[in-house]
Amino acid sequence: MCGIVGYVGYRRILPVLLDGLKRLEYRGYDSAGVTWPEEGGLMRVRAKGKLSVLEDTLEDYRSTKSKVGLGHTRWATHGEPTEENAHPHTDCTGELVVVHNGIIENYYSLREQLKKEGHRFMSETDTEVLAHLIEKYLDDDLEAAVRQALKDVTGAYALGVLWARRPDMLIAARKQSPLVLGISENETFMASDIPAILPYTREVIFLDDGEMAILTEQGISICSLENGQEIEKAPQQISWDAAMAEKSGYKHFMLKEIYEQPQAILNTFRGSIIPDTGEIELPEIGIETQTIQRLKRIVLLACGTSWHAGLIGKYWIEKWAGIPVEVDLASEFRYRDLLMDEDVLTIPISQSGETADTLAGLRIAKNLGSPIVSICNVLGSTITRESDGTVYTHAGPEIGVASTKAFTSQLTALYILALFLAQKRKSVSMQDAATYLKALMKVPGIIEEHLSKWHEHSRKLADEFYTKADFLYLGRHLQFPVALEGALKLKEISYIHAEGYAAGEMKHGPIALIDKDMPVVALVPGDHVYEKMISNVEEVKSRRGIVVALGRQEDEGLKRISNVMIGVPEADPMINPFLYTVPLQLIAYEIALARGCDVDQPRNLAKSVTVE
Ligand code: F6R
Repeated sequence: MCGIVGYVGYRRILPVLLDGLKRLEYRGYDSAGVTWPEEGGLMRVRAKGKLSVLEDTLEDYRSTKSKVGLGHTRWATHGEPTEENAHPHTDCTGELVVVHNGIIENYYSLREQLKKEGHRFMSETDTEVLAHLIEKYLDDDLEAAVRQALKDVTGAYALGVLWARRPDMLIAARKQSPLVLGISENETFMASDIPAILPYTREVIFLDDGEMAILTEQGISICSLENGQEIEKAPQQISWDAAMAEKSGYKHFMLKEIYEQPQAILNTFRGSIIPDTGEIELPEIGIETQTIQRLKRIVLLACGTSWHAGLIGKYWIEKWAGIPVEVDLASEFRYRDLLMDEDVLTIPISQSGETADTLAGLRIAKNLGSPIVSICNVLGSTITRESDGTVYTHAGPEIGVASTKAFTSQLTALYILALFLAQKRKSVSMQDAATYLKALMKVPGIIEEHLSKWHEHSRKLADEFYTKADFLYLGRHLQFPVALEGALKLKEISYIHAEGYAAGEMKHGPIALIDKDMPVVALVPGDHVYEKMISNVEEVKSRRGIVVALGRQEDEGLKRISNVMIGVPEADPMINPFLYTVPLQLIAYEIALARGCDVDQPRNLAKSVTVE
C-alpha cells in the first residue's frame, strides 16, 4: 500500500527521503510528498503522479540543509490521487504533519466531531483526522498527544509524525501496518519496508502492534501506546544488501527478478537439504514431530500469486505426506465458519509477510488452536512473528509489483516442506525423498540454461499477439495452478483479459469463448494427463482457436497441432511447475512491454496489500 520513510541524523534530508521513496514506490505510486523543518516551521511539498513529478517539483528546494524529515508515496484508499490528498497532512496550525499507511476505519465520525470542535480539513483522506486529533491533545508533550490521539482511533496504521517545535525528532507508531526502524551511528530511520534503509544500515528493529518509537539522532526509544511504558528491543541484523534492491542494468525489476530465479530457488533449498541421504532440516519450523504426526488436515492460506503457490503445494503434500490439504483464499477463509483445532496445521504463504487478509486468517486459525508454520520471504515481518515457525524463502527483496521469484521460491519452500512432513510421518522413504530432492536440485540449472531461449520465444510471441483482447490458459494437475498464475501475470501487467482454467473444465463453459482471435496457452508436459491435454488442444484447434503450446521440446505431435510452441525440457513431473512458470512470466513481460505498459508499477496495484 503506501510507503513511509523518515530520517533523523546528519545527512541532507532530501536525497535520503527521495532515495527511500524510490525504493518504496512499488507500494503505491499515485502521488507523493515530503516534509522537513525549515526556519522554525515545516516545509511540505507534494505532487500528484509518480515520484519523478515530486522530484522535479523539489528542484527549487535542493539547497535545504535540514537533516530531519518524512516522506510518503501513496496508494489511494480515501480520496482521489490529487495533490491535496497526497501526504503529509497537517493540523490546523501547519506545525504538525503526519504520514500514514493503513486505514482509519472511524475517520468519518472523528472528522465530523473534530469539525464541530473547529478543525478545518483540507483533504478527503482518512489520514488527515490523525493530524487534527494529535493537535487536539497537544500541549507541549508530543509523545503523550500521539498516544492519546491513537486511543480514539480504530483501524490500521503505520504512522510518522513531525512537529515544528521538536525539529530534532520523529515519532513512529504502528497497528497492523508494517514499520521498520533503522539504526546507525548518529542517525535513525523509519520505513514501511527494509529496502528503503538498506543503503545506510542493516541494523533494524521491527515495530510491533501497539508500539510507539521516538527517533532522534542519538537513537530510538520504544514504548507501549497503551501506557507509555518503555519496551526494550534489540536490533536485528538483515542479510540483504542495497544492491539486491536495485535494477543492476535490467530494464525492469520484474525482468531482473525473473532472471534471478535460479539463484532464489537455490538459496531457498540450499542449507536445508542433503540430497544424497534425502534428509531435510528446517530448524525454524517451530512445531514438534508429534504435532506433525497427529495432523488430520493442513490449510494453506494466501492471496493472489501466493495462493497459486499453495494450490501447487497441495499436490505435493497430499502425494508425499498423505495429509488432506485445503487451499484457502485468506479473504474468504477469514469470514467462513471454520472447522479447525490443534490437529489442523495452518500454513500462511506470503512474500511480504504483511498481507492483511493472510495475517487476519493466521490470527483466526491460531485462536482456534491451530499450529502455524508460515512460508515467507521477509525476516521479521508480522506473519513470521505471529507464527510458531517459518520456512523462509530466500528470494531477496522483490520490488516488481508482479511476483515472480517469490512465487518460484514459495514453490521451493512448499516442495521441501511437503517432503519434510512426509519424512516425519514416515510416508515417504529416505530413498524416494532423495530422488525428489535431486529432481529439485536440477531446477536452477534447467531454468538458467533455458532463460534466454524462452525469452527470445516470448519476444516473438509478443510481437504476434500483443494486440489480442483475451487469452485463455489451460493446464491439468500440477499445471492447472500454473495456468492460473500465467493468466494472472498477463492480466496484471498488460491489462489483457486472461483466464486460467483446469483444462477438463473447458467443456463446462469456457469453450464457448474460443474463436480465431483467442490465443489459448496450453501447458502440455509429458505427464500422466498428457493424452487428456492433447484432446483439449484438439478441441481448441477444431474451433479455430490459436494454440500456444508449452510442451516437451521433442514433442512433434504437439508441435503439429499448435500455432506456436515453446519447448520445455522433459523432467521429473514433480518439478514441472517451476519449468512451465518461467516462460509464462516472460510472455506476460514481453506482451506488457509491447503494449507500452508500466511493467514494474501496473495501474491500480500495489506490492504489499496491508489493508483489506
Ligand atoms: C501478483 C502478486 C499478488 C501477491 C498477493 C499476496 O503478482 O504479487 O497477487 O501475490 O498480493 O502478497 P503476499 O505474498 O505478499 O502476501
